[in-house]
Amino acid sequence: MLPVLEEFMQLGEGALSLTDLARFFLPLKKIFALIDKFYSLARQEVERHRQSFDPTDIRDFIDLFIKVTQEGQDPEIYTEWNVFRIIIDLYLAGTDTTSNTLRWSLIHMVNQPDVQKRVQQEIDQVIGQGRVAKMEDKARMPFTEATILEVFRMSTVVTLGVPHATSETTKLGGYTIPKGTIILGDLYRVLHDKSNFEDPYKFKPERWLDGDGKVTKSDKLIPFSIGPRLCLGKGLAEMESFIFFTTLLQNFTFKVPEGEKPPDGVKGFNAATFSPYAYNVCAVRR
Ligand code: HEM
Repeated sequence: MLPVLEEFMQLGEGALSLTDLARFFLPLKKIFALIDKFYSLARQEVERHRQSFDPTDIRDFIDLFIKVTQEGQDPEIYTEWNVFRIIIDLYLAGTDTTSNTLRWSLIHMVNQPDVQKRVQQEIDQVIGQGRVAKMEDKARMPFTEATILEVFRMSTVVTLGVPHATSETTKLGGYTIPKGTIILGDLYRVLHDKSNFEDPYKFKPERWLDGDGKVTKSDKLIPFSIGPRLCLGKGLAEMESFIFFTTLLQNFTFKVPEGEKPPDGVKGFNAATFSPYAYNVCAVRR
């Protein structure tokens, strides 16, 4: 499933791909073929689950779905079609976003070895080398948390949010927006506006720490968007980012390979998600 997703997420670059003009230049045939492939892989997975299903051992979301349908709860909601939609939503929204955040975080670490060292010192103090990271560790690791917040800000992986449309004619900031207009929220701009963040193109975890070294957040930090439709996976994404990032730095030091230029920490490829250009790093076992 992942290669299909990867190909899908790289189709169409820039803001126009998120508007209804996209139908004139996006490779629609290819897109629909990939969506079909996606559905057929999801269907195979549901089938595989059905064959080994045991109601006393619910292994994951698909098992839970099968259980609920068998029990006949809310048959209009728990339809096969809806479960496909949810699996696909979770894959589309939850895979590329988190993996690109991690890709960007390694770029920032190789470009700022002093930041990487401070994160590793904190990991060594709080977690050590003898066990894996847990979510409870986060509260005692303000510099690591600040570093991750700075990755979310500096490398905004969903630059324009998800397109929405006005359900009725609306007035906003002196403008009249007709019903049915597609609206994109420029999250990247908010996160890189120098009136919100000093030196917005500099990677500075300290901006998230107060004088006592405690994490201080800002209502301008909106990588997951704002409002009732903000990212449904925000909590999960924050957890995944903390656990993966901490585990990588607990075990490895990342460096630019000998003789290579450091990867670009600002420019990237902006399709469905904003990803860095391909780069090499050396992972040196600690
Ligand atoms: C660093 C990781 C992530 C970032 C930066 C991110 C960011 C966003 C943003 C900006 C939106 C658009 C919100 C809006 O429409 O205003 C969104 C929507 C969404 N995200 Fe995430 N996301 C991340 C990870 C995840 C994960 C891990 C999941 C679930 C597994 C997830 C599930 C969703 C869903 C389902 C929506 C659509 C919500 C709706 O339309 O009501 N996201 N995300």
